Amino acid sequence: MATTRRGTLLGFLLMGGVLSRLRAQLKPNSELQQAQSLFDFEELAHKRVSPAAWARVQGGSADELTLRWNHEAYEHIRLRPRALVDVSKIDTRVKLFGLDLPFPILLAPTGFQSLVYPDGDAASARGAGAAQALYVIGSSASMRVDDVAKAATGPVWFQLYVQRDRGFTKDLVQRAENAGCRAICVTVDSPTFGARNREYATQGDVPPRPLPNLQSRDYLDPTLSWKDIDWLRSFAKTPVLLKGILNPDDAEIAVKAGVSGIMVSNHGARNLDTVPATIDALPHVAEKVAGRVPLIVDGGIRRGTDVLKALALGASAVGIGRPYLYGLGVGGADGVTRVVEILRKELEMAMMLTGRTTIASIDRSVLWPKEW
Ligand SMILES: Cc1cc2nc3c(=O)[nH]c(=O)nc-3n(C[C@H](O)[C@H](O)[C@H](O)COP(=O)(O)O)c2cc1C
Repeated sequence: MATTRRGTLLGFLLMGGVLSRLRAQLKPNSELQQAQSLFDFEELAHKRVSPAAWARVQGGSADELTLRWNHEAYEHIRLRPRALVDVSKIDTRVKLFGLDLPFPILLAPTGFQSLVYPDGDAASARGAGAAQALYVIGSSASMRVDDVAKAATGPVWFQLYVQRDRGFTKDLVQRAENAGCRAICVTVDSPTFGARNREYATQGDVPPRPLPNLQSRDYLDPTLSWKDIDWLRSFAKTPVLLKGILNPDDAEIAVKAGVSGIMVSNHGARNLDTVPATIDALPHVAEKVAGRVPLIVDGGIRRGTDVLKALALGASAVGIGRPYLYGLGVGGADGVTRVVEILRKELEMAMMLTGRTTIASIDRSVLWPKEW
């Protein structure tokens, strides 16, 4: 009798173990379905990823003022809707450097994704593809650019850190282009990184990870200057964009130097604290560039209305960084897809509710004039 009871108890325990494992496996899916917004994903990701991964994903530099401003600035922009417009058909398509994109949201490059999810870079690329979004592979990816490009199911670009060894850099660009990357985004805001206090406080907990696209861990080159952009353009077969321009004067030089596009970015507020939110810098850059090259803005975009506001202020497309990492942490590739789908859906809602049926019809008249 006692043996039978012990057997039953053991059975229950085993069964409980199986059930809880099953529940754990099912959890990401139900969480994916329940998450309504990118902020929901942020909350879920915080619970799921390790403290070190969270500090790396979430942290900014120094006092994280710019980090706060990046999103907060969108909250201060009010919309001016039109009523009684037939919005039964919404067209969010854009053309960017010869690519037809179904909607103007791309995934900005982020490094060390293996910290967030195993083979994170490949999962992100697959998740982006499933959502039909363009994915920018980072130089500091945890996988070789060729392997990420191979895993991708949609268009990809490559983000380049120009490394001290220009021969190595040239090979890397050519490898990326041969692997199918359709543009090179050179990061120009990082002669050094910022005081990433939050991230560095947890660095000791992180085992060293491979960085197969970088020649060494000391990969930033503080000598980088405009002549290197000319050098890069001399052999790149794909459009060269500069990522990390905030100052309109730099935008002017960039256009004159012949770059194909500009990414208005403050590196997700991870480098120089107290620079303005990118959405505050964007109109100044747009005024200077005056449509000569496309502008892409990233930093703090969390809502479809943020995307709409960025387009109204002169962006041709927007990038998101942290939000898809939240998706990755919560549900791998599926999580990334879901994040993009939510933002895309919100953009469509924002367009319908403001009476804009095409991306081209989104201009400054969709913004309420500032009067407070
Ligand atoms: C964890 C993390 C790693 C990043 N790594 C890079 C990088 O290696 N190169 C780069 O140009 N930008 C990098 N960025 C910046 C993003 O490309 C993008 O500019 C920024 O995340 C956009 O802001 P958001 O996170 O508020 O959307 C990184 C951002 C994060 C959050």
